[in-house]
Amino acid sequence: MDKVALKLTLFGLLFTCVNLAAKNKKQDIDIYSFHINSTVTSRYATTVITSRVANLLNQSQEVHFDVKIPKDAFISQFRMTIEGKTYDGVVKEKEEAQQQYNQAVSGGQSAGLVSAVGRTLEDFKTSVTVAAFSKVTFELTYEELLKRRLGTYELLINAQPMQLVADFKIDVHIQENTGISLLEVKGALILHVKYSYFFQVSNGYFVHYFAPTDIQRIPKNVVFIIDESGSMSGTKIEQTRLAMLEILSDLAEDDHFGLITFSGHIQTWKPELLKATEGNVEEAKMFVKRIKSGGSTDINAAVLKAVDMINNYPQEGSASILILLTDGDPTTGETNPVKIQENVKKAIGEKFPLYSLGFGFDVNFEFLKKLSLENNGVGRRIYEDSDADKQLQGFYEEVAVPLLTDVHLNYQGVTNLTQSTFNQYYNGSEIVVAGQITDNSLETFTTEVVYHSSVFTGDLSSDRPEHENFIKRLWAFLTVKQLLEKMVLLKDLEKENAKKEALELSLEYKFVTPLTSMVVTKPQDEEMQVAHKPKEEEKPNRHSSGSTKICQIK
Ligand SMILES: *[C@@H]1O[C@H](CO)[C@@H](O)[C@H](O)[C@H]1NC(C)=O
Ligand SMILES: *[C@@H]1O[C@H](CO)[C@@H](O)[C@H](O)[C@H]1NC(C)=O
Ligand SMILES: *[C@@H]1O[C@H](CO)[C@@H](O)[C@H](O)[C@H]1NC(C)=O
Ligand SMILES: *[C@@H]1O[C@H](CO)[C@@H](O)[C@H](O)[C@H]1NC(C)=O
Repeated sequence: MDKVALKLTLFGLLFTCVNLAAKNKKQDIDIYSFHINSTVTSRYATTVITSRVANLLNQSQEVHFDVKIPKDAFISQFRMTIEGKTYDGVVKEKEEAQQQYNQAVSGGQSAGLVSAVGRTLEDFKTSVTVAAFSKVTFELTYEELLKRRLGTYELLINAQPMQLVADFKIDVHIQENTGISLLEVKGALILHVKYSYFFQVSNGYFVHYFAPTDIQRIPKNVVFIIDESGSMSGTKIEQTRLAMLEILSDLAEDDHFGLITFSGHIQTWKPELLKATEGNVEEAKMFVKRIKSGGSTDINAAVLKAVDMINNYPQEGSASILILLTDGDPTTGETNPVKIQENVKKAIGEKFPLYSLGFGFDVNFEFLKKLSLENNGVGRRIYEDSDADKQLQGFYEEVAVPLLTDVHLNYQGVTNLTQSTFNQYYNGSEIVVAGQITDNSLETFTTEVVYHSSVFTGDLSSDRPEHENFIKRLWAFLTVKQLLEKMVLLKDLEKENAKKEALELSLEYKFVTPLTSMVVTKPQDEEMQVAHKPKEEEKPNRHSSGSTKICQIK
């Protein structure tokens, strides 16, 4: 197979995206160079942002570095170069870093750490004191495993230096071993890459991408559990109705579905699941149009009712799915989150996934996330915004077409595997498994993928990518992500062990994760924390989240 290394350089994007606020800024600081260099090797992306700034003033002043990075990325390097001297960030365990940080703050030194979470991006901000007429270079590196959806993946680069920059450049290098079928530059700074392949092996590590599309869909049994409590009133319930009408129209005729609305009491559209015939769908739409908000929130009873409905329906040869939409905490019936989690887990018994959509920031998102993770699903935040109905539909589309159930990826001669069994596989998604090959040879390394009761052996072709290290880093990245997720579900010693392992890997690979922080010793020996990973449930402040904007090429 031909190797393709694609380089795309975009210049002068700034003309259309200079923030007007920049005009009001003092002109005593000059960002004279701003470069972004992104290297994508088989979907593992490493991005380096380099900003060179001059202090034009005849006295020392604080110079800020303020960029946005993708939420799913881990920062892996930060350095500042001032007057020929380089100050490198060091990744430390968070608690240790926090102590030093607090000392620095109480000692009156400038703190400078700010981070906040938006929908897709988070802020990285820091600052340093620069002498009169001196320069500073900031360099930030972050890594991420890009998600493939419908054969396409997206690299998001946010470039807003907030000032006119003389030398502004974005380089994107893409290496895909089977070639790129489509390269699309959308909104100037979003690249789409389509490709397909299976396996890569290097340096004793392998990564397996599994995304078959030429499989027949299997019918689904889906129950929607919709919160109609008082807090949903207004725009939220309107958007929910809109989304549900679209979703119902998208059901396939051989799907079966049920609808439950809940507040303090539970209401079902029909007591059992019905086939998605035209007539039934029309009738369900009438029910949806009549949904109105009011009352308290009995999540426990609503979910248990839905589980009951699915359990009463034969599941042979189909995929069952529960989708819960809520915007608040349980306030009536069983209100203890731990009890609810226990009840739901017991009722579902690992048979099918429960997906939870948390609407807005008044929900206990940690509770919803755990509720779903314990039942093979995921928790997702729906941001209160004009496009909330589209976010709901977008989520539904991800699980709309089940292709496989009970997927087990089995490998011989490997160790330290990332997650390799999956409850369901949907069209458009992708399974990624990485691991270590035990005796570093391909002779004993075999794979098979088992689902339902059929087996097929994967296409095992190996190749040597140029950046050999990336598979090892990809493995570490995926392992840390999954350990962090698993920690939510574990208790006591198991949780401690998962945490220990995730921390060790984060430190070894220098990832800034929720368990670590990056500390840099600045001039004047002032040590400070420059980066930590903010939590999703932290409510973003208005300034840093909503206003994220991607430059447009005209
Ligand atoms: C961008 O990064 C790649 C990979 O690290 C490197 O080979 C290349 O020289 C860099 N390009 C620029 C312009 O710095
Ligand atoms: C800095 O420049 C201003 C005018 O531009 C001048 O008034 C001031 O004396 C200068 N300060 C120093 C320390 O040179
Ligand atoms: C899966 O998605 C692909 C790409 O959108 C489409 O071509 C294919 O028909 C879908 N398969 C099924 C079974 O719906
Ligand atoms: C990988 O697995 C081996 C043995 O199976 C173990 O000794 C080693 O510590 C593991 N490495 C990591 C980084 O987990």
